[in-house]
Amino acid sequence: MTNEIPTRNEVDLDIHSPEYRDGTVAVEAEVRSKCPVAWTKHYDGHWVVTSHHGVGAGLRDRDRYSAAKTLDENGRLTGGVTIPTAETYRALPNESDPPEWDHYRKLVSRPFSPQSVEKLVPLIEKYTTEVIDHMIELGEADFVMQVGSPVTALITLDVIGLPLGDWRFYAERIHQTFTGMPGDGSSEAGIPGIHKRLSETITERRANPGKGLLDDLIASEIEGEPVTDDVIKDLLYDILIGGFDTTAGLLAASLKYLAGKTEVQKRLLEDDDFLRTATEEFLRWVSPAVGLAKTATQDIELEGQTIPAGDRIWFMYRAANWDPEEFENPETPDLERTPNRHYAFGAGIHRCLGSNLARAVFQTVLRQFLTRVPDYEVQEDQLQNYAYAATNAGFAYFPIKYTPGKRLSEHPIFETL
Ligand code: HEM
Repeated sequence: MTNEIPTRNEVDLDIHSPEYRDGTVAVEAEVRSKCPVAWTKHYDGHWVVTSHHGVGAGLRDRDRYSAAKTLDENGRLTGGVTIPTAETYRALPNESDPPEWDHYRKLVSRPFSPQSVEKLVPLIEKYTTEVIDHMIELGEADFVMQVGSPVTALITLDVIGLPLGDWRFYAERIHQTFTGMPGDGSSEAGIPGIHKRLSETITERRANPGKGLLDDLIASEIEGEPVTDDVIKDLLYDILIGGFDTTAGLLAASLKYLAGKTEVQKRLLEDDDFLRTATEEFLRWVSPAVGLAKTATQDIELEGQTIPAGDRIWFMYRAANWDPEEFENPETPDLERTPNRHYAFGAGIHRCLGSNLARAVFQTVLRQFLTRVPDYEVQEDQLQNYAYAATNAGFAYFPIKYTPGKRLSEHPIFETL
């Protein structure tokens, strides 16, 4: 009898290398065409999953992987959703497994349900108007940090019940995590500050209750025990880090595509169905969340490969969203594409909590912006992509120029904060 050693397909992909950052979709296409599930030696070795089928099937197999962070035999933090493991912070529910995940997800779900988000639309409209008011007279702006990020930040802080005046504190630090490279000291520099500010606000709110998700969490219990401040902090952190730059990046990349396409812009403003299919296509094509990790807890059979228990797996959402097996001409946006089974929001139990909010903010900002700033021009020669391209696709800097317009409100929000 012979003991067959399973063959392991290998690729040489360093997800934090300049070659990947500068080549992104071409590198992903090459890896996917060689082998949709492959091993790479970098960062102590991990698997990469690039096919639409592999990403979907793998992420839906909730019993065979873990997203949690644990201590190894040497007392080192391992696991979690980043490679290498981010040792300074934890995001919940993203970095937890059932049964804890079920409790955490339930605690934060209600304000982000389709029904709750529908009720938020007038407020999203109001914040959008006031944020655009603040830049419309200038004639030039950085769209990401002056429009996309602040609208998402304000509505998110409002829902949580965090002080709106803190929007810039959080938004700048979150932006910084994606504009720097891991290991160069900048990409995680702002995160301890976010956790510290969240902890201080939670302590303060225990003494002086307010109204919002934060206060609901303070009043909540998990199996008869009050939710700890640390868990509340990690839950709020996940909501903040998950939403701001992803939504802003989606908007910016869509506006880059739409610049000068006046007929398409007109149709987006007039046709709700077209806006809906276009939203899904921009999500697929842009894929603001590029990839995240899990750890196999049992052997996993995926695309003919066996991923042994204990191995780390990098699921690549964008590579799945550009898989020609699933999407015809994936590199070309087709704003009427149906069906459109993209994984921009992930899949399985960790599928994005904020997908309804992200879509509502995207559609509201897109329509108001196209209406009020119709002749915007993207300063392509000055555009800066994120340096940290492994997890997120977005812009460090997205300068635009336009004919100055008129404010619509007397005191736009930033003058009142
Ligand atoms: C276009 C915008 C967005 C994109 C592309 C996006 C993408 C994703 C993806 C791919 C995941 C799955 C992560 C995994 O597999 O581990 C995820 C999870 C998550 N997202 Fe989003 N997201 C967006 C907006 C938001 C917003 C606005 C919020 C704020 C509510 C948010 C909060 C979260 C949270 C809390 C999770 C973790 C859910 C869990 O583990 O149960 N996201 N998101």
